[in-house]
Parts: sequence; structure tokens; C-alpha cells
Amino acid sequence: MKKSDVVQALFANKNQKATRRESGLAFAPTNIALCKYWGKRDTELNLPNTSSLSISLPDKGALTKLTFIDETQDKVVLNDKPLAADSAFVKRLVQFLDLFRNEENWKLNVNITMNIPVAAGLASSACGFASLVSALNDLFAWQLSTKELSILARLGSGSASRSLWMGFVEWHAGLQRDGMDSFAEPLPFTWPELKIGILPLSTKEKSISSREAMQRTVNTSLLYANWPKKVLQDTVIIKQALQVKNFSLLGGTAESNALTMHATMLASWPPVCYFLPETIAAMQQVWALRQEGLDLFFTQDAGPNLKLLYLSDIEKEVKKYFPSLETIKLFD
Ligand code: PMV
Repeated sequence: MKKSDVVQALFANKNQKATRRESGLAFAPTNIALCKYWGKRDTELNLPNTSSLSISLPDKGALTKLTFIDETQDKVVLNDKPLAADSAFVKRLVQFLDLFRNEENWKLNVNITMNIPVAAGLASSACGFASLVSALNDLFAWQLSTKELSILARLGSGSASRSLWMGFVEWHAGLQRDGMDSFAEPLPFTWPELKIGILPLSTKEKSISSREAMQRTVNTSLLYANWPKKVLQDTVIIKQALQVKNFSLLGGTAESNALTMHATMLASWPPVCYFLPETIAAMQQVWALRQEGLDLFFTQDAGPNLKLLYLSDIEKEVKKYFPSLETIKLFD
């Protein structure tokens, strides 16, 4: 099944002749998974092997503005800089827009403003694709539900399915071949004291894309067979921790989940390793501080930087040990 089949099925009962606006505008937050998505059952539709659970960063993400242009190809501007038509990012974006073009063959100016470092393991593709589908929904007045937008965003990038909501979000793996049951939904929890800090450790380009690393893990890592079990267990525990606001349980489960994901990657061949010496040093510092009684945990995605998890009452102390920490507000 192709992406275009899913788009066709989704629009089958909709009136696509709705009013077209002059421009479309939407913001989407980036998200950080507490229980990770790693491995696909369908690489074309970005259907995951397991469900995953994340928290959105309300102030960090992408704002996308779309306007029609009278040109032969789409134009993409990122943070006020026009991007080359042959860049990997533009090609991926144009291919995504192709899914929605009809006989009118419209072309767009896609103006994206992102306030997160691109390719620092901060899911720029997640907020990028989520804001793009929401801006298209605005431009063409499709009036799609957030669930439908989540399905469309997933076709751009898996983790983008979770960036349609603020707060805690669960992306259901689903079972269907067409992926109509693989979308994200918000979870009914808030936690004003919960904090995330981004610990920048390296600005070097990723050694391998998450897309490629994921597939290599699924195809070659013997440890991957245990990953679905770990996810099942961690999703239940994290929901319990959110329900009763047990921070040590939440932090410990999120950290263990990330480490297990990285362990399955290390067992791939050729090995997939997102650790730098600085990553390991920071982990050891977190473990040492925890031994001393500080309730501090980390999570790590497909890059060398860490995200620290803690409660607001120890923020000052955490900043003392990690002066470069960028603290993020999660709830108002
Ligand atoms: O959606 P992608 O292809 O950018 O993959 C995201 C993978 C991780 O960030 C490592 C885990 C996750 O659930 O966000």
C-alpha cells in the first residue's frame, strides 16, 4: 500500500471543493518520547511495531505559513533562508506535498520558522510535518479531525503523529495494513512541576539518520525481539506514574526505556551508536548525582544530546551542575 492510497482513502468521503483560503498558518510543538518509537512494520507508511508515549514542548516547534505562488515549483524558506530545491529536506517536503496535489497542480511557498536546533535530536521533522499538515488543513479548509491530521503527519515522519497535541500523548501502533488505526491521542494528565532540560553536548551532524538506524536495528539486532515487551511494560508503568504523580517511577522508566533502545541499536550490525564520550560522561554525572540523592533522570533520542527530567523544586541545583542546560516549560 502506498502513501497516496492512504490519502485517497482519507479524502474519499470529503468535499475537497471547499473554500480555499489565501494562506494557511499553523504551529506544532516538538515532542520528546518517554517511551520510544523504534522500528517499523511498514516503512512506506511509517507504521510502528509498537505504541509510544511522549510529552510535547509547547514553546518549541515549527510555525508554517503556506501561500500559493505562480511558479513551476514549490519554494521552501526555513528561518528566513530560501533552501536549495535539490536539498534532502526540500525533496522530502515536496514529495509530501505531491500527495495532495490535484489536477490544478498548485505550487506553494512554504515558510517555516523553527525555534529548535535542526538535527540536534530534537525532532525537527516531527514538528515540521505536523505543522505542515495543519497549515494545509487551514489553507484548503479541509476541516479534518486531529486524528486524521495525525495519520497524515505520520506519513511524513513517524514521530510527527504525536506533535498534533500539547501535553502527554500516546501514539497507538495499530494493527491495520492501511494504518487507519495508527494515530496519536492526548492522555488526560497534567503535571505542572515536571521539567525537561535540553543538555547540548555536540552540534555535529548525526552519524546515521533515525530512519536508516531503525531499519538496521530491526533487520540485524538479535536484542530487538525483546523491545516490544519492554515497550508494553513501560507504557503501563509510565501511565501509572503519571496518574499518581510518582516522579522517580516516571524518570526511572523513561531512562531505562531510552537505554534499552540504545542497547538494541548497539547490537545491530554494523553497530549503531549515538553515544559520544560527552554523552557517557553526562550520564555518569546524572547517576552520581542520583546516588547523592538528587531525583534526576535522562532520556536520549537518535543523537548524542541528553534531555534531563526533574521536578521544578530542584531546577536551580540541576542548573548548577549543568550550566548549559536549556530549561523548557511544559505546562503553564
Ligand atoms: O519519527 P522519526 O523517524 O524522527 O524517529 C524518532 C525516533 C526517536 O526520536 C529516537 C524516538 C521517538 O519516539 O521519538
